[in-house]
Amino acid sequence: MTDSSPRKLIIAIDGPAGAGKSTIASRLARKLGYVNLESGAMYRALALRAIEWDASFDDEDALLKMAQDSRITLEPTIGGNRVLLNGKDISARIRERDVTEAASRVSVHPKVREWMVARQREMGIGGGVVMEGRDIGTKVFPDADLKIFLDADPVIREQRRLDQQQVKGPSAQAMAAELRERDRRDRTRAASPLVAAEDAVVLDSTNMSEDDVVNRIEELVEQQLAARR
Ligand code: DC
Repeated sequence: MTDSSPRKLIIAIDGPAGAGKSTIASRLARKLGYVNLESGAMYRALALRAIEWDASFDDEDALLKMAQDSRITLEPTIGGNRVLLNGKDISARIRERDVTEAASRVSVHPKVREWMVARQREMGIGGGVVMEGRDIGTKVFPDADLKIFLDADPVIREQRRLDQQQVKGPSAQAMAAELRERDRRDRTRAASPLVAAEDAVVLDSTNMSEDDVVNRIEELVEQQLAARR
């Protein structure tokens, strides 16, 4: 007997911080009945472990060992990913500023990335997944069924992040500067820098509402599914 139901797709959403990836990926996954996986949360979990163990963010081998010895679990929920480190819920903690900064630093190391990419492939290989990050379309799933590169004007991205975290005044300026620095690091690192895959659809969300972006991606998903029927 042949299975006539369409295969569930692998959808990759990459882009810089503040472009709206998490919100869009989670809404899209809900609409499609897919699972949303935030790959950045895994780098954040490792960064937290490094902070807790007082490890250097520059010690690649120690960080790799830490990753290998950790159980990092992503549990998709309606409100985003619940993240567990060795069974402990660290979902809120990993969004804090020190972990955000450390995640950007631990993620530059090729051996750490190789380990993360292997885990991410295991999680998404069956399809029915919207995975978001920086290198999903270029490294994790270069054969993804649909690749989106979600971008937005840097000033807008900074503002969105500040609004999200309800930050104002001098600390807003410091946070905006940190975001710019993380952006620079993500785009210029030697291993898997943030770049749009050649076959990615680039969406600039500067002047698009969340609904616009989700609707546009849904159209692209429909086209992919139609091509497979
Ligand atoms: O998406 P995020 O802000 O949660 O990601 C945290 C950090 O992890 C970010 O600075 C870049 C890094 N990252 C990465 O290098 N590759 C990914 N696929 C996802 C995140």
